[in-house]
Amino acid sequence: MSNEETVASTNQTVTLKAGAIDLPGRVLASNCFQCHGTNGYAGELKIGEQSASSIISDINEMKTKDSRSNIMIVHAKAYTDEEIKLIATYISQQTKY
Ligand code: HEC
Repeated sequence: MSNEETVASTNQTVTLKAGAIDLPGRVLASNCFQCHGTNGYAGELKIGEQSASSIISDINEMKTKDSRSNIMIVHAKAYTDEEIKLIATYISQQTKY
């Protein structure tokens, strides 16, 4: 598996440091954990137990809404379908730390 990952819509490539868990989606999903807790397990904003398909459909629904109405919609709109798939798959495979 490659130790490089392209981040969000910026096309920047991040090289994971030696010893980091090298999984697709890990770097992209780390942004989500700022608000949704480590591995997605914050109390009120828990998303860690959701399936990948549930996360994908939530994000796609947010993309259709007015971006001024909340911060999550702004995030949702910025990701490509491929990025959302990587993020959702990664989050759905994590367990509570
Ligand atoms: C700046 C904080 C913030 C970041 C970063 C963030 N979220 Fe959110 N997220 C929220 C808030 C706040 C809500 C609740 C929005 C609402 O209820 O309208 C939410 C809601 C969600 C929901 C719906 C949860 C549910 O059970 O209804 C999903 C799925 C989700 N976020 C996924 C993600 C993913 C994936 C990422 C990373 C790409 C991410 N979030 C990044 C703040 C954030």
